[in-house]
Amino acid sequence: MLVLAGLFSVAMCRADEGMWLPSLIGKQIKDMRSKGFRLTAEDIYSINKASLKDAIVLFGRGCTGEVVSPEGLLLTNHHCGYGQIQQHSSLEHDYLTDGFWAMSREEELPNPGLTVSFLVRMEDVTDRMAAGTTGVAEETERRAILEANRKSIEKEASDEGRYSASVESLYYGNQYFLFVYEVFSDVRLVAAPPSSIGKFGGDTDNWMWPRHTGDFSVFRIYADKNNRPAAYSPDNVPYRPKKHFAISTKGVQENDFTFVYGFPGTTREYVTSDFVDYTLNWANPHKIRLRTMRLDIIKAAQEQDAATRIMYASKCASIANAWKKWQGETLGLIRLGTLEKKRSYESQFQQWAAGRPEYADILPRLHGAYAEWLPYAFARDYYNEAFGGVELMKPVALFVKNDFSPVGYETFYKDYAPGIDRAIAKKLMAEFWAHVDPKFVPGDFVAEVERAGSTDAFVDDLFDRSIFVSAESCLPMLSDSTARTTAADDPAVRMYDAFMKLYRSVILPEYKRLDEMIAGLYHIYMRGQMEFEPGKAFYPDANLTLRVAYGKVEGCVPADGVYHRHYTTLDGIIEKDNPEIYDYDIPQQLRDLYATKDYGRWGVWIGSLYTVPVAFLASNHTTGGNSGSPVLNSKGELLGLNFDRTWQSTMSDLEFDPTICRNIAVDIRYVLFVIDKLGGARYLIDEMTLK
Ligand code: ARG
Ligand code: ASP
Repeated sequence: MLVLAGLFSVAMCRADEGMWLPSLIGKQIKDMRSKGFRLTAEDIYSINKASLKDAIVLFGRGCTGEVVSPEGLLLTNHHCGYGQIQQHSSLEHDYLTDGFWAMSREEELPNPGLTVSFLVRMEDVTDRMAAGTTGVAEETERRAILEANRKSIEKEASDEGRYSASVESLYYGNQYFLFVYEVFSDVRLVAAPPSSIGKFGGDTDNWMWPRHTGDFSVFRIYADKNNRPAAYSPDNVPYRPKKHFAISTKGVQENDFTFVYGFPGTTREYVTSDFVDYTLNWANPHKIRLRTMRLDIIKAAQEQDAATRIMYASKCASIANAWKKWQGETLGLIRLGTLEKKRSYESQFQQWAAGRPEYADILPRLHGAYAEWLPYAFARDYYNEAFGGVELMKPVALFVKNDFSPVGYETFYKDYAPGIDRAIAKKLMAEFWAHVDPKFVPGDFVAEVERAGSTDAFVDDLFDRSIFVSAESCLPMLSDSTARTTAADDPAVRMYDAFMKLYRSVILPEYKRLDEMIAGLYHIYMRGQMEFEPGKAFYPDANLTLRVAYGKVEGCVPADGVYHRHYTTLDGIIEKDNPEIYDYDIPQQLRDLYATKDYGRWGVWIGSLYTVPVAFLASNHTTGGNSGSPVLNSKGELLGLNFDRTWQSTMSDLEFDPTICRNIAVDIRYVLFVIDKLGGARYLIDEMTLK
């Protein structure tokens, strides 16, 4: 009985779980419609007519954006456009702090390096990829054939470079899909709220509910006169999309059908208990500990000094983001008993596989492969988190690559406090020393530490002597060839070389080999799982390709006695507002709007409360990369922008639990309220189609 319960809770496809391929959404349509969806599969994805997919972009390399006007206006999250907003900011124009509102097309700001990609079409190319592989038993040979097939499929689909094409493996190579994109590179910044709105709540509220973040920014796509992608030019014109999203101003009600259409990055729903064990008992605790040490040191320094707070704000946010997620993930995995459930599922699978030669030994083989892989994965994690956590290694890495142009160095030193880095390096090196298997510790490092007497003394010595600790001692060296020769013997360069040499020659190749071997075994195990449960609708793990997730607007009970209502309001912002607390210090303008209840058409009555809706919860299966994704109603109208999940849901990358997994969206009405009332940019709203 227990075993069976375990089996079903991991293996059955449950309501709301899943990230489905748009071109195959027809298989889900019946279920979607029974839950309230009112459109057809062709409305979601079509190659014959304009469909919703034509209004969605991969924004940069890890977020989603959506087109909301016939003139190429694009919405994404503030945290997705953060880099661009920061790049345009200076002391005179501090757009991060004050926000940015282009009041005409001429004021929109170009962003070199930023691209947005529209999916033109996707196609199952499993058979074409398999051509020539039948009967090839040798794995390296099979891979070489696959690689060659991939290249020729991509080349053909790129249509002489007009499109960017990529073949992606799904279900661990049991299926291959070709994705053809049209990539635009003239994408201009149109508007961003002040960070005190766009990042309201900061790291304190990150991954949490209740949430009050106005996490949006506005861009515009430009094209050449033929509406084709073109490099930035003042002659380019706003892109005319095949489709743009209509915006629903009617708001959300609990239990409303909703779907998220975007680019989820990575999930691993079909891995064995070995990987869950590694995540839970090795990777997460160590990575969390290492980051806690870094954050403690940075935060203490930030409290001492306002300049340091600003200098380390963005670094702190990125260190804290994954740090907090891993903690939530660990708690979630424990709470769900994912490890035990996977183990009992595997024993069921093993019984089934016993009479099937293809699968009989797949789990033992995976288990064996993971045992070999673990020490390498663990060492790799330490190299990334401990060695990689020493900031000093960044300018050294530039130097080692023979990059002597001052730009990269200057950007680095602008936000660098060697005192903080030294304190962090002491902690990280001591941890590295204590936890990494001696065979993965560079000999030169051991010798230096022994000579100095301790890892602390080694770090002190390094920071006392290295010229890379400050702009003053480093920058003059770049243009002086004699100084460059001397710098090649700098203690920081020697440390970098010692670590990287061992990493690249001993750890990485073996890690990659084992990882590929494991992927090869998953190719078989995945197929086995699908045969083992023929009635189940499997969805492929996320891999930054376009997906549809559907569920409903709903709150939840994430812990005994705790209720998460499905929405928040401006009144909650005012409750949190505190000029003394950086994360909760809202713009005076917002306080004034609240005081006079000047909400214009965005005000709503909720019972006797007159307010503006801010964020809402839904049960859509999302992950990193889904940030900025449109959250849509049953008619495909925009309700909000996805930007996060609750803390209790972060284990959904390994196991989704429909009772507590919730994605968080900023309500489109709050976005419009901020654009209208704070930005005074009503002309942007006039471009949109409001319903
Ligand atoms: N947790 C969200 C995601 O993973 C938002 C991160 C940005 N916000 C922050 N305070 N760091 O991207
Ligand atoms: N905040 C994430 C993102 O940036 C979304 C998530 O992990 O739920 O994509």
